[in-house]
Amino acid sequence: MKILFIGDIVGKGGREAVAALVPELRRDLGCDFCVANAENMAGGGGITRRCLAELAAAKVDVFTSGDHVWDQREFVEEITRVPNVLRPANVYPGQPGRGHGLFTAADGSTVGVLCLLGRTFMNGLTDCPFQAADRIVAELRAQTPFIVVDIHAEATSEKIALGRYLDGRVSAVLGTHTHVPTADETVLPQGTAFQCDVGMVGSRESVLGRDLEPVLQRFSTGMPARFTVTDHHIRLQATAVTLDAQGRATAIERITRDLP
Ligand SMILES: [Fe+2]
Ligand SMILES: [Fe+2]
Repeated sequence: MKILFIGDIVGKGGREAVAALVPELRRDLGCDFCVANAENMAGGGGITRRCLAELAAAKVDVFTSGDHVWDQREFVEEITRVPNVLRPANVYPGQPGRGHGLFTAADGSTVGVLCLLGRTFMNGLTDCPFQAADRIVAELRAQTPFIVVDIHAEATSEKIALGRYLDGRVSAVLGTHTHVPTADETVLPQGTAFQCDVGMVGSRESVLGRDLEPVLQRFSTGMPARFTVTDHHIRLQATAVTLDAQGRATAIERITRDLP
């Protein structure tokens, strides 16, 4: 079993790159299942059904999200109609949608996917991701040994701690949110694949997917600026994880592809 995990998809350029590159990437790498973080897919913040529809043929099985999941107001209602989109699991009870699910891979295997928000240097309006993971991973493990966790968080320490905490209980703990891939991909001692951050699908001529000029203005003057999304020079960053029949990782590999 091989799983492809794609970093935060940013805006129109990100969506176009996923649509253009992922089917071929899946085929080239021999991936059975694909997860992508969608939290920035609609204009740089949030998700809409219309944007998801553009990726209908892209062969992404599950979309995870993060702190920007509710940035597009209509998605509060729409999420209940897109069962392959996950909001973070450790949020206030009663938020629409769900934070984990069981899905079917191309080889017929069942894959559990869990989306968690970190708390360190985040807005803090979340429950403990470690306790949420304890509860949900136990539930998923009753159904399948193939479990992928998206830890959407700022602090590398919190992400590493969660990876170690879940080592041997899940197949992979992969980070999102910073939009910058880290070079720490590894298989932990008990067989969990780990990487602090997978990166993004966004412009390589940008600041985290946003046009350079307003971000430089804001940093250099302290004055407000509207951060527009860059739609050119798009680079797709992802990570591929190979699993054995028991759901333990045997390999993890960083992937980079530029949209021509
Ligand atoms: Fe993001
Ligand atoms: Fe985020």
